[in-house]
Amino acid sequence: MIPGLGVMRSLAGEYLLPLLGKFLYFRQNTLGHFRLPSPPIPGSAEFYRKGTMLKKIYHLGYAVEDIEKAAEFYRVHFGAEPGEPEEVAEQGIKATMFEVGESMVELVEPTRPDSPVGKFLAKRGEGFHHVAFEVEDIEKSLAELKESGVELIDEEPRTGADGTRMAFVHPKEAFGVLTELVELKGK
Ligand code: CO
Repeated sequence: MIPGLGVMRSLAGEYLLPLLGKFLYFRQNTLGHFRLPSPPIPGSAEFYRKGTMLKKIYHLGYAVEDIEKAAEFYRVHFGAEPGEPEEVAEQGIKATMFEVGESMVELVEPTRPDSPVGKFLAKRGEGFHHVAFEVEDIEKSLAELKESGVELIDEEPRTGADGTRMAFVHPKEAFGVLTELVELKGK
């Protein structure tokens, strides 16, 4: 005798569906380990790059009203050795640096009030202005940032103090911190 439709339905409900569930659970949790790695999810860190592009903190930039006075302060009270201020006309600044271990502090004084640092001083006063990270290959870093949708101030590197090549990432992208990328010369 052929079982009726009702019997077949209840067999399916009682035995087949739970079995299928167990099979899928097993497949997901046990065989899952042997599946090929899934491609990185768009938006995740590994989707964009492997490892950090940031080699070290190259310098911290302080905006100051009077670079000679600021340099003297660090010279006298901390024994720091800032060099002769160098003018970067393109950026409307004078800058000098002193070493702090592997990193440096950069003192920046505007040479004109309408330069970015001049405007910063007028609006916020003296203080922390930017962080500079050293990168291996600035073109590559900028291309990667652009590709992942990060807004840049400089899409192409410019020449910074001491012949380095540098570019700024927009501070609104970096949680309010003006972020400079620097590739050292002689690479
Ligand atoms: Co800088």
